[in-house]
Amino acid sequence: MDVRVREAVHGDWVEAGRICYEAFATLADRHGFPHDFPTVAAASEPIRWLIDHPRIHAVVAESDGRIIGSNFLDERGTISAIGPISVDPAAQDMRAGRMLMEAVLERARQQRAPGVRLLQIAYHNRSLGLYARLGMDVRGSFAAMHGEPIRRAMPGYAVRPAVTADQAVCDALCTRVHGHSRSGELREAIESGDARVVERLGRITGYTTRIGYFAHSVAETNDDLRALICASDDYGTPGFLVPLANGDLFRWCLANGLRVFFVTNMMTIGLYQQPEGAYLPSVGY
Ligand SMILES: CC(C)(COP(=O)(O)OP(=O)(O)OC[C@H]1O[C@@H](n2cnc3c(N)ncnc32)[C@H](O)[C@@H]1OP(=O)(O)O)[C@@H](O)C(=O)NCCC(=O)NCCS
Repeated sequence: MDVRVREAVHGDWVEAGRICYEAFATLADRHGFPHDFPTVAAASEPIRWLIDHPRIHAVVAESDGRIIGSNFLDERGTISAIGPISVDPAAQDMRAGRMLMEAVLERARQQRAPGVRLLQIAYHNRSLGLYARLGMDVRGSFAAMHGEPIRRAMPGYAVRPAVTADQAVCDALCTRVHGHSRSGELREAIESGDARVVERLGRITGYTTRIGYFAHSVAETNDDLRALICASDDYGTPGFLVPLANGDLFRWCLANGLRVFFVTNMMTIGLYQQPEGAYLPSVGY
């Protein structure tokens, strides 16, 4: 099969969105898991957003003038994030996935990104093998948790919408925990009204860009994270990602009726430091 990878343009979102839905749905069905994206529209909307975003590098793979897959590199922060990658089920296992991965890794090299990361669905042996062979290391596992929102008041922990004036404090907190800030994503979340901060004794001790799969949270302690989780009205599907190394928080989620959707692995190339503090990654990192 003759495959070429090119930069995506706006009009590609319809076919790339359909393929993204089909690729993930086929994979989930094969393993007896629920679908990551319940409908074509649920997969296509994020694909359209990713293609149109000025700080996300989008590529598609074509064969015989037909789109057969897509991949993305989120360049909003110090660390670049890959995904979602998908290849048309009819064209899988013929190296298009490898070419789409090589294209974004090459882009990251050209942009001199200090680190590149992704979260890989653990039940998919093929992507695990592919990413590892491309040089990515597994750093940890994360359970996507979903269910009825916990909605419990936590006296002493005040959660409120984040405002622009909070940005510097939140960036400093993220740098303390991860060694780098995620200011591009946080700025967007503040502007869209999705970001929240938690305050303890009048001081910001945590923030979230939204509790859910596509957003991240950083906090000083697990109780700060719990307050942010308890203040959210919707965890979405497949839910927010909890580090399995954080047994205390994972058990608390289970004790409060949340269920595991699936487990993912964080894989990285380049800059990485063990986080020091409480956090929930996004599907990117
Ligand atoms: C992941 C995906 C993009 C890969 O695309 P693809 O075109 O099928 O992949 P390729 O043919 O380029 O590469 C498959 C690789 O997996 C390897 N592989 C296949 N089965 C494997 C297994 N059980 N264990 C280890 N490696 C395996 C192949 O040898 C090949 O690696 P190589 O190129 O180093 O030899 C595609 O399967 C897909 O769309 N999946 C559904 C969506 C998805 O899972 N996205 C990723 C979420 S993390």
